Amino acid sequence: MRRPLVAGNWKMNGSRSQATALIDGILQGISEENSIEVVICPPFVLIPLAAECLAVGNGLILGAQNLSSQSAGAYTGEVSATMLTDYGCKYAIVGHSERRALYGENDAVVAQKFGVAIENNLTPILCVGETLAQREADETEKTVNDQLDAVLQQHGIEAMVKTVVAYEPVWAIGTGRTATPQQAQAVHHFIRNKLAVGDKNVAANIRLLYGGSVKASNAADLFNESDIDGGLIGGASLDANEFIEICRAAVH
Ligand code: PGA
Repeated sequence: MRRPLVAGNWKMNGSRSQATALIDGILQGISEENSIEVVICPPFVLIPLAAECLAVGNGLILGAQNLSSQSAGAYTGEVSATMLTDYGCKYAIVGHSERRALYGENDAVVAQKFGVAIENNLTPILCVGETLAQREADETEKTVNDQLDAVLQQHGIEAMVKTVVAYEPVWAIGTGRTATPQQAQAVHHFIRNKLAVGDKNVAANIRLLYGGSVKASNAADLFNESDIDGGLIGGASLDANEFIEICRAAVH
């Protein structure tokens, strides 16, 4: 039985006061939803504040949106895995399409970050997904397959035991255009089958999240699909009530 997971990716949004209010709001709403895991991924500078807010509440887990591919040293502007775990982060998003497209993170960098996360007990939320052009060229499965292989070839199927994969079609992120539950399920099924070739148990237990314009109004239909174990939520995670509704939709 896979425990559903809903993760909020705040992206580059929020001030200290907004973060405090948002966390308070979420904590009030999710206190009973302990059958699922709820994660928030604030921007780096708000992580210490979030860690303080979470110390007084419970049921909410801290994650980061990114991490350095290096462990420590002369890497100006970078944030290491151990800095994140020091503040209580349990998860780190790795290979988000915005990092891939806007900050030049190629498969090799993503695989490196994935490895650093695993080594430091941060569970990677590994993002994969095709662009609109790739979908229209019927290259969805090939794209997702290659993105997964970049990590699997380096770290092996065993590394997936402590991993979450998020399928996020690029054309659905921040566009208001969600994949239909059937479209999302088809790719999730493909991912699980692919992982099963390496290890059936790993494939059966790994949580696969859908991300891309998830809202309170479409979350339940997506989460009802058999291979969708929760969501990675961008815009809608900035509104406590909307986010709480999405979390509730993940409770089975
Ligand atoms: P969105 O973003 O929910 O705003 O589409 C999802 C994501 O980028 O993780």
